[in-house]
Amino acid sequence: MAYETIIVEVEDHVAKITLNRPDALNALNDQLLGELVDALQDAEGNDKVRCIVITGSEKAFAAGADIKMMSEKSFVDVFAGNLFGPEADAIVRIRKPIIAAVSGYALGGGCELAMMCDFIIAADNAKFGQPEINLGVMAGMGGSQRLTRFIGKSKSMDMNLTGRFMDADEAERSGLVSRVVPAKKLTEEAMAAAGKIAEKSMITVMAVKEAVNRSYEVPLAEGLLFERRVFHSLFATEDQKEGMAAFAEKREAQFRDK
Ligand code: HXC
Repeated sequence: MAYETIIVEVEDHVAKITLNRPDALNALNDQLLGELVDALQDAEGNDKVRCIVITGSEKAFAAGADIKMMSEKSFVDVFAGNLFGPEADAIVRIRKPIIAAVSGYALGGGCELAMMCDFIIAADNAKFGQPEINLGVMAGMGGSQRLTRFIGKSKSMDMNLTGRFMDADEAERSGLVSRVVPAKKLTEEAMAAAGKIAEKSMITVMAVKEAVNRSYEVPLAEGLLFERRVFHSLFATEDQKEGMAAFAEKREAQFRDK
């Protein structure tokens, strides 16, 4: 499909989606989010794709929701129109793993989009923030909820109330990102991580994603029970037999997603 605000490339079982509104620092508008959801759903349905990477430019992953698009909207417009709601819901329903590769600004909706991914690899120039308070609004796609679960109440309050930016080192220390890499190596490192995931059994990968995400939704005892049940159920797969046989035979496993 021809997109105008994103670039999609599929290489070695990894779909790389590059946000591409350079004049607006990849600000998220209806078109970009619509195209992103289309591309993610396409990747979900494409057997060749086993992992997805979302990235932006060196200067900006995304500098937030498009302020110019939102500025004249009324409460009724955004409430009745459910601004960004369906897109956010669609993104978190994707079952294949998604890595956010963040360079430069990930602000407001940009930070929230990164947090909707399964993990974040940050370039050393990355800057995260929820500066909506400076615009007289607040986070609307997870900045007050996911960020709080990821980095704790005190830091989340600090970010959401002052609107300050957090650099890559602090983001790693705080648990917002999984690793920090030199900006020039960001794509390479993110694609390598995606490539590693692409080698695994897709059944197991989707089970892991579901189980880890579950930990944010249910009490610990329920989450542990869910985990145990899914762990047990994986013994029904051929890939479990293959994985354990390969270990015993000292060879690489050849998973077949069965
Ligand atoms: C629309 C944006 C934009 C945004 C940048 N631009 N961010 N346009 N919406 N969120 C545009 C600028 O207007 C400018 O266009 C061009 O991108 C380059 O930006 P500059 O400001 O000139 O660059 P710089 O001086 O380097 O500053 C970078 C920046 C700053 C610090 C990231 O752009 C900034 O503060 N942006 C807004 C960040 C923000 O408040 N995000 C939260 C948005 S609200 P022109 O045409 O002037 O050259 C949000 C709500 C989410 O995200 C809730 C979801 C439900």
